[in-house]
Amino acid sequence: MSKITVSLIKADVGSVAGHTTVADELIKIAENNLSEAKESGLIIDFRVFKAGDDLELLMTHTKGVDNEEIHRLAWETFEKAAEKAKELKLYGAGQDLLADAFSGNVRGMGPGVAEMEFTERKAEPLIAFMMDKTEPGAFNLPIFRIFADPFNTAGLVIDPSMHQGFVFEIWDIMEHKRVFMKAPEEMYDILALIGAKSRFVIKRVYPKPGGKLPEDEPVAVVSTEKLYQVAGEYVGKDDPVALVRAQSGLPAVGEVLEAFAFPHLVSGWMRGSHNGPLMPVSFKYAKCTRFDGPPRVVAAGFQLSNGKLIGPVDLFDDPAFDYTRQKAMEIAEYMRRHGPFEPHRLPREEMEYTTLPKVMEKLKERFEEI
Ligand code: 13P
Ligand code: 13P
Ligand code: MG
Ligand code: MG
Repeated sequence: MSKITVSLIKADVGSVAGHTTVADELIKIAENNLSEAKESGLIIDFRVFKAGDDLELLMTHTKGVDNEEIHRLAWETFEKAAEKAKELKLYGAGQDLLADAFSGNVRGMGPGVAEMEFTERKAEPLIAFMMDKTEPGAFNLPIFRIFADPFNTAGLVIDPSMHQGFVFEIWDIMEHKRVFMKAPEEMYDILALIGAKSRFVIKRVYPKPGGKLPEDEPVAVVSTEKLYQVAGEYVGKDDPVALVRAQSGLPAVGEVLEAFAFPHLVSGWMRGSHNGPLMPVSFKYAKCTRFDGPPRVVAAGFQLSNGKLIGPVDLFDDPAFDYTRQKAMEIAEYMRRHGPFEPHRLPREEMEYTTLPKVMEKLKERFEEI
């Protein structure tokens, strides 16, 4: 059998009640468009999701990553949905469609992309993670814990087929460079980079050579599209998505989910300018309310069957995550009490909005030497 490609492509093309959630009208348009593509044979299967105000297209096909037809399908679907969003006067209609016309690949055009091509195993569990009100670096901590932390992933210690560890592809988004690093050998160096999550982001994870899985087929991928520096400004706040494969030489589904049991602090939230806890929620609660948040993550679990998507299972729809959610709300409350003070409010260079230059301009004459 030929290799399967899974493409998760997302954009915020307009939302209802501010930045809260995607309107059902847009979901319908996306489902119709992808249904036609499935009937025509372009894609094998698809699911449409909403994660907060982000419209998420999960597609399977055999065309490989960065394929023009698949990216065009996503782009045209977003365009159609954006048209409807404009008609309904939804909030931020067309917000993530940065270009006027499609030019062969959605990268750099606004949408976020997580794609990987691999040989489908005898049983192929796959999890699609979708976050709203945060940035790709929010995945650094959980992806590291899944594939490199033995206190999270028991299999790293006790499964002979995983014991050798994994390779991390890490991007320096300031310098536009990447480096491949091995865990556990280079664990401290990896952490030295990815702890700086607004600069270094995990892009992909690969199996090590000589193991059960092909070393050139990724086992996890994170969207990183908008992460670059424009004229010295940070514009990286792009609600991210990720795909993670599981089991049989990879972390178990439960080991993958375990990494989200700790509601770590991520940047985003109100106006993309605040730190807050990442709360794992069911699809039903994939809408951002309090202070436009707190930032949240949903997880859709599947088995692949020759590219067909069996599922989804709403993986965080479980009382086992109630404690995490409760903890997240305690942290949200604690952080909120800081109001406009750091570290709730982000440091200047990471804020999406700032009035500081104007305030400084106004006070220019009144500042005295000391
Ligand atoms: P490369 O730099 O390896 O082409 O990465 C492309 C990519 O990550 C697309 O999402
Ligand atoms: P989104 O990035 O999800 O559109 O949110 C923007 C915002 O400003 C929320 O307060
Ligand atoms: Mg929005
Ligand atoms: Mg969003």
